[in-house]
Amino acid sequence: MNIKGCIFDLDGVIVDTAKYHFLAWKRLADQLKIRFNEEDNERLKGVSRMDSLEIILELGQMRLDAKLKEEYASLKNKWYVDYISRMKPEEILPGSLEFIHELKQASIKVAVGSASKNTPMILERVGLNGMFDAIADGNIVHKAKPDPEVFLTAAKLIGLEPRKCVVFEDAVAGVQAALNAGMFCVGIGSEKVLKEAHYIVPGLNKMNLKKLQKIEKLSGL
Ligand code: G6P
Ligand code: MG
Repeated sequence: MNIKGCIFDLDGVIVDTAKYHFLAWKRLADQLKIRFNEEDNERLKGVSRMDSLEIILELGQMRLDAKLKEEYASLKNKWYVDYISRMKPEEILPGSLEFIHELKQASIKVAVGSASKNTPMILERVGLNGMFDAIADGNIVHKAKPDPEVFLTAAKLIGLEPRKCVVFEDAVAGVQAALNAGMFCVGIGSEKVLKEAHYIVPGLNKMNLKKLQKIEKLSGL
């Protein structure tokens, strides 16, 4: 195969942390008396912590100084960490483990490409520590998706050119980041939302090595 590396977004692809982000942002929005629902939460997927806060403040047409923004972002993170510190291996999304094992057996490198600074804690809680060949996360990458930095960093860490890598992403900004990195992108989720992805599956339980080989053929990678 020409594909030598698979880079996975974490939130919404390997684990379902979107619900915890929602609960924590909702608590903050309620405290600030800003209306915020699950549909609004879609806009926060793949977006950095600070940019997420900006979107919520914009929803409430509220302006805050930089110091207060820092305080509210940390408060949200404290609540979020409360939730994820209780995560269990059962919260790994269906099919993820099987697919990752299959890739590793085929000597395809696997990496994480996530904006989350909580990536190490989440991987540890769900028992995926040491599973990946490299981790590019919000602790080492500073430009938010759709900037390609996170995926380019992951590719560099596994020693591969971008065109040898496939990205698995559930967020619109993440799909754009993969395309901006010059990588093939498999969207995880709905065709309506992830139109720009090269190929779309509802979840990693619908992915396997055979399908990856088929995608490679179809795309002329
Ligand atoms: C992921 C999630 C976003 C989240 C971001 C930062 O990309 O999809 O919803 O805002 O990570 O996460 P953090 O854990 O650092 O606040
Ligand atoms: Mg995601």
